[in-house]
Amino acid sequence: MRVVKPDAEGLRRAVEVLRAESVVAFPTETVYGLGANAFSAKAVGEIYRLKNRPSWNPLIVHVANVEAARALAETWPGLANELAAQFWPGPLTLVLPRARHLAGVGASNDTIAIRIPAHEVALQLLEASGLPLAAPSANRSEGISPTTADHVLRSLPDVPLVLDGGPASWGIESTVVDVTGETARLLRPGALPLREIREAVGSILLPDEGPADGAARSSPGMSRRHYAPRAALVLVKEVDQTGLSDSVGVLTYEGFSGTEVLSADPREYAADLYAALHRLDDAGVATILVQEPPDTEDWLAVRDRLSRAAAK
Ligand code: TXA
Ligand code: MG
Repeated sequence: MRVVKPDAEGLRRAVEVLRAESVVAFPTETVYGLGANAFSAKAVGEIYRLKNRPSWNPLIVHVANVEAARALAETWPGLANELAAQFWPGPLTLVLPRARHLAGVGASNDTIAIRIPAHEVALQLLEASGLPLAAPSANRSEGISPTTADHVLRSLPDVPLVLDGGPASWGIESTVVDVTGETARLLRPGALPLREIREAVGSILLPDEGPADGAARSSPGMSRRHYAPRAALVLVKEVDQTGLSDSVGVLTYEGFSGTEVLSADPREYAADLYAALHRLDDAGVATILVQEPPDTEDWLAVRDRLSRAAAK
């Protein structure tokens, strides 16, 4: 079996695969990751091949503790200290100056994205392997991110091993923040709300705000089309219920009728979003009409994913 329980035997097998420079899908609190030894060019290459990921898109490196994170960074800014203390382990990725001695971790640039995941299985895997694990979401490039082991298998049928830790609790990717400049800068909205980051460090710049002092003004992976189901996804202000057919799925939230009715709470909505898109794809609809969520900061990450999923 390629899907295994994350018990002692499952973890032993996963470590064996990682040490053999291959890849393992594992659960995190955000989405499932496709992990490989971040120090092995061969293993990292296998991630890009399996996902069909463009080589210019760098990977997040997962570590078990702050000490391991510091070893990958050339400097450790005060901002990193504060954010790591408050939010790690958790759904926050920090972009830092890359340690000069490091080659080949993801795509080559002068920064590195790092996080400590808040998931027992992920942490056990990191500790048992003793390796920093480069891990993007465990789906084909541009597809819907996986929140269950089953989603991983369907998107990456050739994956060598999947540790099944049940459904991911956040269900949406980590928030990516650049801490190489004076002020923290958002690169990708995600599970950790901006409000919490602002409360921790005073302010955070949006991708297009302020001076261009950070190493990266935007996350290379924020390509326009991403997170997309097979069906065509269309964002609408209001769903016109007349003239709907079986080939159209409707994704809404509480208070509106649809094929999939998610919560009106942005965190709960995010937790179900990818699974709902997978279900609609399974139902074989050709089009998914999505009722646009409110244009408020709480919905930033969800709106970001929906607009990319809708992009042609
Ligand atoms: O929640 C998550 O972040 C999940 C789990 C598995 O940890 N991972 C994830 O990885 O979403 P991925 O590869 O799907 O997205 C990583 C994002 C991409 O947009 C990538 O471009 C960006 O992080 N990134 C990676 N390294 C970067 C760097 N050095 N500078 C700026 N952005 C970077
Ligand atoms: Mg991804």
